[in-house]
Parts: sequence; C-alpha cells; structure tokens
Amino acid sequence: MTDRVILTYGTFDLFHVGHLRLLKRLSALGDKLIVGCSTDEFNSIKGKSTAIPYAHRVEILEACRYVDQVIPEEDWAQKRDDVQRYGVGLFAMGDDWAGKFDELRDLCDVLYLPRTENISTTELKALIQAMRGPASS
Ligand code: CTP
Repeated sequence: MTDRVILTYGTFDLFHVGHLRLLKRLSALGDKLIVGCSTDEFNSIKGKSTAIPYAHRVEILEACRYVDQVIPEEDWAQKRDDVQRYGVGLFAMGDDWAGKFDELRDLCDVLYLPRTENISTTELKALIQAMRGPASS
C-alpha cells in the first residue's frame, strides 16, 4: 500500500498551540505531512505582515515532530499542482477555510478541522501590543 500524503498550508507566524494541535491531528491521519508555508512575498500579496521571517517560520515547522516536509506557498494557484506533484491523498485546513478548497475534491480528499479556540496569531499580536502599553505604541 502507498503512503497517504497530507498537505496543508498556512502562515504559521508566532507559532502557537493552535498550529501545533492542527499539525498533530493532521499527522495522525496519514503517513507524511507536508506543510506549505506562506512566503513573506505571498503574505504581502495577501495584505498580511509577519513578525517572524519566512526562513525562521520554515525552521520552526521543520523542527516540529509532526511535520515531514515544508514547501513554500507562493501563490493561490499552486495547490492543484502541489496535490499532483506530491501525490497528496488528503488536503486539509482549519475550518476558518471551510468550503474554500472543495474544488480539489476531484483530485484528493478535502477536510476542514475545527480550530483550537481562543488563540490565533492575530490575538497574540494584539496581546503583545497591549502588554507593551500605550506609551510604546
Ligand atoms: N489554526 C487552528 N487553530 C487556531 C489557529 C490556527 O487550527 N487557533 C489553523 C488554521 O485554521 C490554519 C493553520 O492553523 O489551517 C495556519 O493558520 P494561520 O493562519 O497561520 O494561523 P492563525 O493563528 O489563524 O493566524 P491569523 O490570526 O494571522 O489568521
């Protein structure tokens, strides 16, 4: 039997427990987990700025025991190519993306997992900002 390859994408800025739990749950669903990490250039196209540069976000993801391979996410259109190139059997994202990638169902299974509640990079950034206080903002 061939290995079941799982593919997910994200920015993974300020790596937090919501990211970790998603990757842990995904890795349990197959044999190899590939993570597409958004490059700094792609994030700026998306109107998103990151605290942690791409190379560091990749380094952290590669050190995560649940991740087998990290690839760059450079544009919206690469997903179909990546699914075919890496022999992906399951494409999965957190459920903030529910329904957004159903078009890939002709190529592989598509799954949206519930997000971990009460944590996100956006919330962490707001918290850090608040901790710095009004004087430093
Ligand atoms: N994710 C999750 N639970 C969270 C936060 C994120 O399961 N609490 C998942 C997302 O659904 C996505 C992946 O982790 O599939 C990467 O998400 P990313 O956008 O990098 O993280 P967020 O914390 O959601 O970042 P932001 O606040 O900038 O949107």
